[in-house]
Amino acid sequence: MYMLGSMTINSRGHLAIGEQDLVELAEKYGTPLYVYDESLIRERCRAYREALNQHYPQGEILFAGKAFLTLGMGRLLLQEGLGLDVVSAGELYIAAQAGFPMERVCFHGNNKSPAELKMALDLGVGRIAVDSLMELDRLEEKASRRRKIVPLLLRVRPGISADTHRYIQTGQEDSKFGLGISDGQVFAAVKKVLKSPYLELLGLHCHIGSQILDSQPFQLAAEIMMDLREEIRLKTGTLLPELNLGGGLGIRYIAGDRPVGISDLVMLLAETLKKKAREHNSTLPRLLLEPGRSIVGEAGITLYTVGTIKDVPGVRRYVSVDGGMSDNLRSALYGARYRALLANRPQEPAEETVTVAGKACESGDILIYDLRLPSPRPGDILAVLSTGAYHFSMFSHYNRHLRPAVVFINGGLTELVVKRETLEDLIRPELIPPHLEKEPDFKTVGELGGSA
Ligand code: LLP
Repeated sequence: MYMLGSMTINSRGHLAIGEQDLVELAEKYGTPLYVYDESLIRERCRAYREALNQHYPQGEILFAGKAFLTLGMGRLLLQEGLGLDVVSAGELYIAAQAGFPMERVCFHGNNKSPAELKMALDLGVGRIAVDSLMELDRLEEKASRRRKIVPLLLRVRPGISADTHRYIQTGQEDSKFGLGISDGQVFAAVKKVLKSPYLELLGLHCHIGSQILDSQPFQLAAEIMMDLREEIRLKTGTLLPELNLGGGLGIRYIAGDRPVGISDLVMLLAETLKKKAREHNSTLPRLLLEPGRSIVGEAGITLYTVGTIKDVPGVRRYVSVDGGMSDNLRSALYGARYRALLANRPQEPAEETVTVAGKACESGDILIYDLRLPSPRPGDILAVLSTGAYHFSMFSHYNRHLRPAVVFINGGLTELVVKRETLEDLIRPELIPPHLEKEPDFKTVGELGGSA
């Protein structure tokens, strides 16, 4: 059995994280439940930081908040000395509320609203990653009105199609993200920024996609970006001090996934930058990396309770759980695959092949096809592994499902970091305007009218 982080089987034969029995946890907090192995998140933060220290000390790790961000997670990142990549007013607000130092925040997005840009400037974020020429004009106007210098990076589309799901490729030529190199947009943007007394060009940024297992596309991106940095130096005389190579390193969802290790990837990037700097006879840039999934993905488990079991004879056995596409959109959206086991009897032989269905009114709400499990029974606790990234953060209220609670476990410590949503929470923002307050003046549907 493949165990991650502090996952174990305890003396009761239950799945546990640290000292916490997951079956007891499900009883205490209810299901579905997002559970995080906090020590594994910290381990991954340190793996990145140590790899940088060892191979490229002039660098910084910014966690990509879109993967999973809450106030508690913000505090953890602060304790671990990471920066933060945010992509909306919401993520920026959470960072600020968590007391996160704004100079370590980079603000992304292909359509930052005027209000979001204003908020970022008011808070004084360390970098804005400008995604388009239009955004650059907006930013310059705002900066000059405030007479304040705004530090920025230019997001570049390096023209790389990494081997991953089409929806999570971002560096290819036909992408809504970033400025193109061959079409001259990067150079047009560089010229504009260098002319403005209110914009400070710290460097270039790229992010080629997500859940990338192989190191080769990252190396290619690093080479293209270093060549571009050199071309900018030759054309403008300006050597950009920073290079942000984004995130994208994949994790292990199923047995066949074999991602390159954090340390190996950082070492490869460091070597590539050093080689290119030598080739260009220039100095090394400060390196920023923005991992999301590879920090939190494998640290998360979702617990569900098995409900209805239904056979379609000769076809399959549907095992329905009390969550689904609301708490895990990835199966329906990308056809993502997962490993799972029964937390209450993880060691029993997996003699049955079942299909784990969610409870949403949507035929596509299938969490796992053809999963091998010990014959499931109603009340079993199903633990779906590697759900720490892009699950809580992609939660959907479809069917008015309630957002599950989030629990962090660290050794002997188990703490709630997000409470389960309640039915009252669900209607809190809703209003009934006066004209809809009126009671109907007919008694039954039969009195609605129409000729009898
Ligand atoms: N930096 C930027 C600018 C990004 O757009 C992203 C992810 C990251 C960093 C972090 O990438 P990571 O290390 O997590 O791969 N919802 C999809 C993933 C979308 C990723 C979007 N951008 C999924 O569930 O697979």
